[in-house]
Amino acid sequence: MQEDKLKIVIVGHVDHGKSTLIGRLLFDTDSLPLGKAENIQKACEAEGMEFEYAFLLDALLEEQAQNITIDTTQIQFKSAKRPYVIIDAPGHREFLKNMITGAASADAAVLLIDANEGVQEQSRRHGYLLSMLGIRQVIVAANKMDLVGYSQETFDRIRSEYTEYLKPLGITPRHFVPISAKLGENIAVPTAKMPWYHGPCILQALDGFDMPVRDEKQPLRFLVQDIYRFDERRILAGRIESGSLSVGDELVFWPDRKRSTVKSIELWNSDPAPLSANAGQSTAITLTDQIFVERGQIASHDKECPAEAREFVANIFWLHDEPLRLDAAHELKLGTQSVEARVVKFHRILDSSTLQVATEPRLELRKNEAAEVLVRTRRPIAFDAAETLPVTGRFVLMQGKRIGGGGIVLDAAIGKNAQQEVKSGNITWTVGRVSREDRSALLGHKGAVIWMSGLSGAGKSTLAVATESALHSRGMASFILDGDNLRHGLCSDLGFSPKDRAENIRRAGEVAKLMAESGMIVLTSLISPYEQERERVRQSCAAAGVPFAMVYINAPLGACEDRDPRGLYKKARAGEIKGFTGIDSPYEPPAKPELELRTDQKEIIVCRDELLALIVELTRRTGQYRSEESDPGAAI
Ligand code: ADX
Repeated sequence: MQEDKLKIVIVGHVDHGKSTLIGRLLFDTDSLPLGKAENIQKACEAEGMEFEYAFLLDALLEEQAQNITIDTTQIQFKSAKRPYVIIDAPGHREFLKNMITGAASADAAVLLIDANEGVQEQSRRHGYLLSMLGIRQVIVAANKMDLVGYSQETFDRIRSEYTEYLKPLGITPRHFVPISAKLGENIAVPTAKMPWYHGPCILQALDGFDMPVRDEKQPLRFLVQDIYRFDERRILAGRIESGSLSVGDELVFWPDRKRSTVKSIELWNSDPAPLSANAGQSTAITLTDQIFVERGQIASHDKECPAEAREFVANIFWLHDEPLRLDAAHELKLGTQSVEARVVKFHRILDSSTLQVATEPRLELRKNEAAEVLVRTRRPIAFDAAETLPVTGRFVLMQGKRIGGGGIVLDAAIGKNAQQEVKSGNITWTVGRVSREDRSALLGHKGAVIWMSGLSGAGKSTLAVATESALHSRGMASFILDGDNLRHGLCSDLGFSPKDRAENIRRAGEVAKLMAESGMIVLTSLISPYEQERERVRQSCAAAGVPFAMVYINAPLGACEDRDPRGLYKKARAGEIKGFTGIDSPYEPPAKPELELRTDQKEIIVCRDELLALIVELTRRTGQYRSEESDPGAAI
């Protein structure tokens, strides 16, 4: 059966031995048509050529070429454990296009490196290619080990170098396998040539991969196609793309989140009516309640719901002659949903044939380029990450009436903002309908976090108060989060140990970010002595798309001690306060502040004006988004 095959791709250059590896896998697993290998061997002898395993693949592909219509080939082989199919394409371009648009999909990958050459630019690009496709099950094969005398040192060097490279791309190879495809070392059986290697051979490593979960075992996604009225009944017709549903199940319809229970299942030509329906079936249901459901909605169970958002991160492949321009409106189709969408950010752009990454900032994506992008839709839509549920994780962008490009959803942009560990399970991220732009349109500026750090007595609070007044009188919404004040409430359980201070900064950072998301310009006034904690707040804001500026309120310790507005330094010197910042507790100055203000050298008014200039610039609306007040759809 088709589903029982593990689909793999072998990513590597022909010169690195890709065809040879495939030929070897076919030969060593007896997967070639009868007599094929012998015929080729004879032909080689007749022409006085050395036999090569790569020829086996060539011959097989030649035969297949007569039958195939899409530019993807499927080569099959079998291990003792299960059948495999190798998905191959004549070039990177076809491969990327097929994978992103859904013509082909792979469950696992083998990344091939030439041990004789080491990790070169090509291998880096191949790693990058895999990361764009989001394939998580990966093994790396270091080929041509025979040419480097089966050297452990060479292998170890490649492994550590490539592991480092793959790490930021989110790829953690399950195994690194030293092989010689040409000589069949470590392909289908473990080799004796490299006694220092104790891991699996290629075939064993492949057998260790997991099969993807079958559709009906996955969470329910019922895509509503049409609503019919029939003898007073409202019948919802659609297709179950994954999971299953039964009479009596409570369903949630996204993106509206209306709920009702399945009253009956109406499969055409089925008597008696079935009590459940599975993935892959077109079906029709009735509900116990008269709720408003429309075409395009996705029904799920109460658990394992789809994401609902107006923004998500995706990889797209562009096929149209007309480039995809930043901020241009396109129809986006995902499942049965159709919505106006724009690409509002290009994170990285990749040329699909050279796998070269564009270095200069770009405003458009050209034909045959792939890119990681931020997509924003006019109305909230429901979707999944393609990695978990491919059908509801894939979409197309229309260019007029034609398909302009295809994409896979990587993640909902919102809710992804914490690299923090979340302890509680069974929690989801609820998304409102008022967007960041809606809020900034209302207030006339963006929200932001202005993080002021400095010693006690450096002038943080004084400056915050002066700046807040100035902002207010300009009609800008701002609020101060003052360390001393927070310690009266939100942080009243915290002292001044390094651990408590770190938690203090984290809490203030989270609150500041939330307030900035609500549209406020937040001025924080905390000593916040640790660089690492402050940078965490910066990252967390960046991930949430909240503008952030680090402002170092710098006055030397001597000046602060002279000021000593609350007599705390005196007490600290006298040993009455322990662990006082600057005295017997460290202060790490910000390494790269956006602004540094020497409050001991400049007047407060001058400092305030410098800070104001920075804030005005940081919170200026870019005006690239249209108001949506006139869109009746957006108000639903
Ligand atoms: S932080 O280090 O955790 O960022 P925060 O800004 O909240 O400190 O609180 C600092 C304020 O607490 C100071 O302005 C001072 O009034 C008071 N304070 C009391 N004990 C200490 C201490 N040991 N070190 C620094 N500030 C202290």
